[in-house]
Amino acid sequence: MTCVIRLLEEIRRTAHYIKKKGKTIGFVPTMGYFHEGHLSLFRRARKEADVVIVSLYVNPAQFAPQEDFKKYPRNFKRDLELAQGEKVDYLFCPTDKEMYPQPFSTFVSNESLSSVLEGKSRPAHFRGVLTILAKLFHLIEPDVAYFGQKDYQQALIIQKMIKELNFNLKIKVLPTVREKDGLAMSSRNLYLTPSERNRARTLFSALQQGRDMVSSGIRNSTEIFKKVKSCLRRTPGIKLDYLEMVDPETLEKIKEVHKRALLVGAIWVGKTRLIDNLWV
Ligand code: PAJ
Repeated sequence: MTCVIRLLEEIRRTAHYIKKKGKTIGFVPTMGYFHEGHLSLFRRARKEADVVIVSLYVNPAQFAPQEDFKKYPRNFKRDLELAQGEKVDYLFCPTDKEMYPQPFSTFVSNESLSSVLEGKSRPAHFRGVLTILAKLFHLIEPDVAYFGQKDYQQALIIQKMIKELNFNLKIKVLPTVREKDGLAMSSRNLYLTPSERNRARTLFSALQQGRDMVSSGIRNSTEIFKKVKSCLRRTPGIKLDYLEMVDPETLEKIKEVHKRALLVGAIWVGKTRLIDNLWV
């Protein structure tokens, strides 16, 4: 049975009790509307930890005013059933009132990695992500927290926070779970109309095309992106936000690939913004 906890004091007490008994906590932070990507994290946590805690909280601090906070998909009953199916022990669903008592003034931010890629398009986004995670990590004190490769930049920035602010936990980043046609699973895929859904896989195709060009020996990113971007631009209803080849540690753009690099991209399909990445 998955036990639902809403109060901060209760999750703190529960986590403290688990630790006191010498058990390990595997923690998966989420914003809900679970899909196979989320479930893959729950399963790994279930396999590795004594107790699995999942948080379900659509964190207002990581959305800009014009973004989709209000319409972000929410379905508590469905999520609870899915969590139960994966034998999650605790589902922590806090309220805004307790998470962000007003006036709220303390935030955690990364000064170097959060102004590029996603951060360039969504300036206050990572500040909101780090702030909520700092709070959740303090409340739950997990041994391991699980994240998805799909949000690579997020996982990297969280790893930096853990290291630089001396949080006492380990981060594990698991592979991106995809639909049959390659589209990365995302709660936001729900926004897509059937015709948008068809076009949404263009991002994965573009990344794949880039990866194939690198495998075939082309090293220059300008050369790679010229072809890939022109292909993306030809797809109607798609707007390219960014497509880059970056160093996986610094997120700096790479001109010539000579070692492991990451292809990252974001597109708009109608009003829906999708992101994805692939190793090369
Ligand atoms: P959310 O988008 O709900 O994602 C929760 C976790 O699931 C993240 O670690 C994300 O990378 C992972 N995930 C999403 N899609 C995935 C996929 N297709 N394959 C594998 N993993 C996937 O990311 C957030 O929530 C929030 O920013 C959060 C970290 C909870 C802070 O509010």
